[in-house]
Amino acid sequence: MSTSTQDAERQDLESVLFTEEQIQARVRAIAEQVSRDFAGKDLVVVGILRGAFVFVADLMRAITIPATVDFIAIESYGAGTRSSGVVRLTKDMKETIEGKHVLVVEDIVDSGRTLHYLLQLMEARNPASIAVCALLQKPSRHEVIVPVHYRGFSVPDEFVVGYGLDYDQRYRGLPCIGVLKPEIYGAA
Ligand code: IMP
Ligand code: MG
Repeated sequence: MSTSTQDAERQDLESVLFTEEQIQARVRAIAEQVSRDFAGKDLVVVGILRGAFVFVADLMRAITIPATVDFIAIESYGAGTRSSGVVRLTKDMKETIEGKHVLVVEDIVDSGRTLHYLLQLMEARNPASIAVCALLQKPSRHEVIVPVHYRGFSVPDEFVVGYGLDYDQRYRGLPCIGVLKPEIYGAA
């Protein structure tokens, strides 16, 4: 993304919650932990598109053990800022996960519905284990309980963008994470 686009997108932020440096430090720490926990195991990192693609790219490069990467796409949001409650699989994985150790990587756990749906789907495929890694978690909004084994940061109940997270497909290329100005999405 060009600098001018980034500058323009930054103008739409009410505040920056996590800087690029803070995010990178957290990603490195999580990668170290994952590398220790899965040493000697057959690890498949499964990113949830589209939001997790930036996080997965950084995480994969910081993980120091052999691991394969795959992606799954799930839709639960339209162009709004609240989950429709309807979760739909729009792209499946290429790899089989049977007998393998799966690390599901998500950008943010909000209501928890997306992960809940996905974990059920994956468990039916008989992996050796499933662990969840979420960059962000909004604990105050959880509607279903989902296990998060590795978490980057906890965030308040506000709509955040950047580092892969979008509003209406924008802001994904921002290197930081911030709260979007409510007037951008037309909230009161
Ligand atoms: P959940 O199913 O309600 O947990 O929603 C998870 C999905 O909603 C995430 O994968 C995000 O794509 C999206 N989402 C939830 N909160 C936010 C946010 O604050 N900013 C951007 N996307 C969000
Ligand atoms: Mg999303």
